Amino acid sequence: MNDVCLEREPIIEIVDLYKCYWVGNVAFPALNGIDLTIGRGEFAVLAGRSGSGKTTLLNIIGGLEVPDRGLVKVCQQDFVQRSRDERALFRLYHIGFVFQAYNLIRVLSARENVAFVCQLQGLERRKCFENADRWLAEVGLGEFAQRRPDQLSGGQQQRIAVSRALALNPDIVLADEPTANLDTTNGKSLVTLMTRLNADFGTTFIISSHDPDVIDSAGRLVLLTDGRVVQAGAQPTPPLPPEAACPPEKLSLKTRLLRTFASDQSE
Ligand SMILES: Nc1ncnc2c1ncn2[C@@H]1O[C@H](COP(=O)(O)OP(=O)(O)O)[C@@H](O)[C@H]1O
Ligand SMILES: [Mg+2]
Repeated sequence: MNDVCLEREPIIEIVDLYKCYWVGNVAFPALNGIDLTIGRGEFAVLAGRSGSGKTTLLNIIGGLEVPDRGLVKVCQQDFVQRSRDERALFRLYHIGFVFQAYNLIRVLSARENVAFVCQLQGLERRKCFENADRWLAEVGLGEFAQRRPDQLSGGQQQRIAVSRALALNPDIVLADEPTANLDTTNGKSLVTLMTRLNADFGTTFIISSHDPDVIDSAGRLVLLTDGRVVQAGAQPTPPLPPEAACPPEKLSLKTRLLRTFASDQSE
């Protein structure tokens, strides 16, 4: 059965990663030898106590910080060797960020906040606003497009941050404690939104959290303790393509074999 499993292409490969912060002569070790591979399309949750290294790991994957040592490949590209400007450019085309405090630009409307990042990508103005309208509608906020962040609830602001991340058409969305500032209802609805976007668009999500609702939604749970991965979960196999979209005769041999095995087992 193993040889017919669909394998995910690795989108993040981390080997023997270390990071220590120094404040004067005092060392604060944050990551102590992380090994982790994330496959394309996964919905992975990094869980662990405060101080376990979740933010540091996300920041290194996103190129906001550099490790002391170790290999970090994102979309098959070796990140650690890149300059700060190259990392910023790579991030602009491959990675969307969602932060705990939303980080929207206060003087811009929801629509302008989303369009702005598309302008950074060099898209023409009209296309940027089309993108913004599409992604605001996708997160259910089309009618709030002209409002500024301070005219919206926390839950709505975080949905805008999610649509801003997706508007970049990224390979990966990194979300650092995205529900931590939200009440339970808004937190649950954000989790539902992110899992749906992951399923509908195949975007890889890596979310740090200790919120039970986020942890319950994990396609894979990665548990960190003191800067180490103590549990990495099993990589889920990708879903089969829908029947309607792909007639049986067009399916790959691998998929047809997998389907045959699945129906054999259910009989
Ligand atoms: N800028 C910094 N200066 C000093 N220590 C830091 C800094 N950032 C993180 N740390 C330390 O690194 C460890 C991991 O922090 P962090 O990655 O923020 O963990 P988490 O996100 O799981 O709470 C903690 O001990 C924290 O105090
Ligand atoms: Mg953190």
